[in-house]
Amino acid sequence: MALKITVIGTGYLGATHAAAMAELGFEVLGLDVVPEKIDKLRRGEVPMYEPGLEELLRRHVAGIEGSTGRLRFTMDWAELGEFGDVHFVCVNTPQRHGEYACDMSYVDSAIASLAPHLKGPALVVGKSTVPVGSADRLAAYLAEHAPAGADAELAWNPEFLREGFAVQDTLRPDRIVVGVRSERSEKLLREVYATPVEEGSPFVVTDFPTAELVKTSANSFLATKISFINAMAELCEATGGDVAKLAEAIGYDDRIGRKFLRAGIGFGGGCLPKDIRAFMARAGELGADQALTFLREIDSINMRQRGRMVELTRQELGGGPFLGKRVAVLGATFKPDSDDVRDSPALNVAGQIHLQGGQVTVYDPKGMDNARSLFPTLGYADSALEAVRGAHVVLHLTEWREFRELDPAELGEVAAERVVLDGRNALDAEAWRRAGWRFRAMGRPGA
Ligand code: UDX
Repeated sequence: MALKITVIGTGYLGATHAAAMAELGFEVLGLDVVPEKIDKLRRGEVPMYEPGLEELLRRHVAGIEGSTGRLRFTMDWAELGEFGDVHFVCVNTPQRHGEYACDMSYVDSAIASLAPHLKGPALVVGKSTVPVGSADRLAAYLAEHAPAGADAELAWNPEFLREGFAVQDTLRPDRIVVGVRSERSEKLLREVYATPVEEGSPFVVTDFPTAELVKTSANSFLATKISFINAMAELCEATGGDVAKLAEAIGYDDRIGRKFLRAGIGFGGGCLPKDIRAFMARAGELGADQALTFLREIDSINMRQRGRMVELTRQELGGGPFLGKRVAVLGATFKPDSDDVRDSPALNVAGQIHLQGGQVTVYDPKGMDNARSLFPTLGYADSALEAVRGAHVVLHLTEWREFRELDPAELGEVAAERVVLDGRNALDAEAWRRAGWRFRAMGRPGA
C-alpha cells in the first residue's frame, strides 16, 4: 500500500513540500497551528507569492474542482498521528531575538505535540534547518515519549529550496540528503523520493550530524561566495576596476564557477543571514568557534554593502544630507520572484535613507504589502514610473525582470534628475546612458 505522508508546518517549506508530495502521488495531510493558514490552504490559496505553487496546490487540494483530492489539511494532532506513515517536520527556526542562535521552540513543540500520537511504527523526518546535534536530541525524545517507543524513528532530510524556485527545487532537487539510523528509515525515504531519484536527483545517505551540517555548510558556502565578490567590489571601487568583468573572468574557471558571484548590496532573506549566525553560535557551544570565525567576516562584509549603497547615493546627490532629496527605490523584496522582505537589503537601504531625512518612494512588483507592514513610514508608489516621478536619484535594489524591461527614456521624462544607481549589477548600463542617465553600479566605478 502506498505510503501516507503528513507535513507539519505549512509555511514556505511545508506548503511546497506538501503539494510536491501530492504531485508525486502520495496521500498527504498537512497540519498547521494557525487556523487562518489552514482555511486559506483548504481554499487552494497560497499564503505567499511563489511562482507555480498555487497551481500545484490547487491540482491536489481536496474539495477543489478537478483536483486529485490527495492533499488535505487539519489542525488535529491525533488525526495526523493516526494518518501518517512518514511525518515531515517543516516548521521554521528563526533567529532568536537579540541573539545569534536559532529558536528551536517550533521544532520542539511540533515533536512534543506529535509524539503522544505515534502509536505504531512511524518515521518522523526533520526538514527544518537546525543546529547540529538537534536530531540526536529529538530522536531520544521520541523514543521516550511516543507510545510506539523505538518504532517511532527519526531521520533528518534538510531542504535546499530557493524562494522563487521552490516548486522545481522540491520536485527535482539538486540532491536529496538523508541522515538515518536504520535501514528501515532509509528504505522509507527511498520510497518517498523514488520519482526524483529516478529522474536523476542524487540520493546521499549519511548520519545525523552530517545531514544537519550539509545544510548549514551549503548556506555558509553560498554566503561566502557572495561576500567574497562584494569584497572584490570594494577593491574595484578603490582601484577603478570592474567587478562584473572580474566575476565573469574568474567564473570561467570551473573550480570557481560563475554562479553566486553577482556583486551588489548583498544577501538577505529568511535563510542565509540567520543560518550563518546560528552556525557560529552552535560552533561556540561546541567549543569549535575558531573554525567559523571567518563567517563573522562574511556577515560583516555583507552588512557593510548596505551602508556603502547609502554612501554612494549620498555622493551622487552631492555629498550632503538627504534632507529635501527625493529617492526612488526599485525593489523591496530580498530577491526577485518572491514577496519576502525578511532581512531585505533593499528595504534596509531605503530605511536608512529615510531615517536620514530622505524622501523615499518604494515600488516592488510583489512585495508591497509585506514592505508596508514592516516599514509603514516609507513612501510607496503603485508603479516604477510613479516611484521615479520627481526623484533626484533612482536606486535599483532588487533585480526583478520588470525593472530590466523598463524604458529609461520614459523614466527620464518624469525624473527630476537622471541619476540611477544599480545595487544589483543587473541593469543595461548602455541603454540607460543612451537615454541620458548618469549610471553607477556597485563595484564598477569606471564602467
Ligand atoms: C538560500 C539557498 O540558496 C537555499 O539553497 C536554501 O535552502 C535557503 O537559502 P534563498 O534564501 O531563497 O535560498 O535565496 P538565494 O537565491 O540563495 O539568495 C540569497 C540572497 O543572496 C538574495 O538576497 C540574493 O539577492 C543574494 N545574492 C545571490 C547576491 O547578492 N548575489 C548573488 O550572486 C546571488
